[in-house]
Amino acid sequence: MSELSGRTALITGAGQNVGAQTARVLASAGARVIVNDLFADRAETVVEQIRTAGGSAQTAVCDVTDLAAVTETFGQVGDIDILVNNAGIPITGFSMANFADDDPATWKAFIDLNVYGPMNCTHTVLPGMIARGWGRIITISSESARVGDRKLGAYAASKGAGPALMRSVAKEVGRHGITCNSLSLATQNNAGLDEASDMTLRQLKAYQVPRLGSASDVAAAIAWLTSDDGAWVTGQTIPINGGYATS
Ligand SMILES: NC(=O)c1ccc[n+]([C@@H]2O[C@H](COP(=O)([O-])OP(=O)(O)OC[C@H]3O[C@@H](n4cnc5c(N)ncnc54)[C@H](O)[C@@H]3O)[C@@H](O)[C@H]2O)c1
Repeated sequence: MSELSGRTALITGAGQNVGAQTARVLASAGARVIVNDLFADRAETVVEQIRTAGGSAQTAVCDVTDLAAVTETFGQVGDIDILVNNAGIPITGFSMANFADDDPATWKAFIDLNVYGPMNCTHTVLPGMIARGWGRIITISSESARVGDRKLGAYAASKGAGPALMRSVAKEVGRHGITCNSLSLATQNNAGLDEASDMTLRQLKAYQVPRLGSASDVAAAIAWLTSDDGAWVTGQTIPINGGYATS
C-alpha cells in the first residue's frame, strides 16, 4: 500500500510550479489530491496530469484570501488530512523597491495572501483533523522572511506570518496527532532561467549548491513531512535553500 493511501491532501495555489509538483508527488504517494488555485484551467490541467498517471485528484477553485469561499469550497471536498499552504505570490506580482520607496498600495495583496491565506485555510481544516486525530499542515515561506532580502520588504513581512502561525498551532495540536511546519524556500527556477546567464551566475554565488531550486526539491521535503518518517517533526521552519543561508 502506498504511504498516503487513504489520505486526502489539499494544496493551495497548485495550478503551477511548486504547488503543482507537490500535488503530483503526493498523488504518486497514494493521496487523493485536491488542487486549489484561483484559475480553474490551471487546476484542471494538473488534475488531468495526475489522473493520466493513475492518481486521484479533483479541483477546488477558490481565492484563499476569502474565508467564506474557503469554507464553502473546502467543505465540498470531504475530509482534508494534509494541507499545504503554498499560494504565496499575488497575481499582481512583485514591485521590487527599497522599503523607503515602496508604494503602500501594494502591501495589502501580500498580507491578504500570506497572512490571511494560511490562517483561513488552517482554521478551516483544523477541526476535522482534531476530530480524526491526524493531520499534517505545511506552510511555504521564504528565505526573504527568514534571513531578509533587499527590495522585498512587504513580501518578506507577509511571509514571516506562516512560520509564526505554524509554530503556535503546533503547540496546540501535537497531542491530536497533527504536525505543523514551514518550508523556507530560496529562489526557484520556475521560469526555466538560463543558469549560465551573467545575472543568474551572480545570483548563484550565494548558493553552496550552485543552482536555483526546483519544485521537486520542495515536493520531496513535503512528501517526507507528510510520511510516517516525518511524524516527530513539528513547529519547525526548514530551509530548502541550496545553502543560500547556512543557519
Ligand atoms: N518562486 C520562488 O522563487 C519562491 C521563492 C521563495 C518562496 N516561494 C514561495 O513558494 C510558493 C510557491 O511559489 P511558486 O513560485 O510556485 O508560485 P507561482 O506564482 O508560480 O504559483 C502559485 C499559484 O498560486 C495561485 N494563486 C495566487 N493567488 C491565489 C489565491 N489568492 N488563491 C488561490 N490560488 C492563488 C496562482 O494562480 C498560481 O497558479 C509561494 O508561497 C512563494 O511565496 C517561491
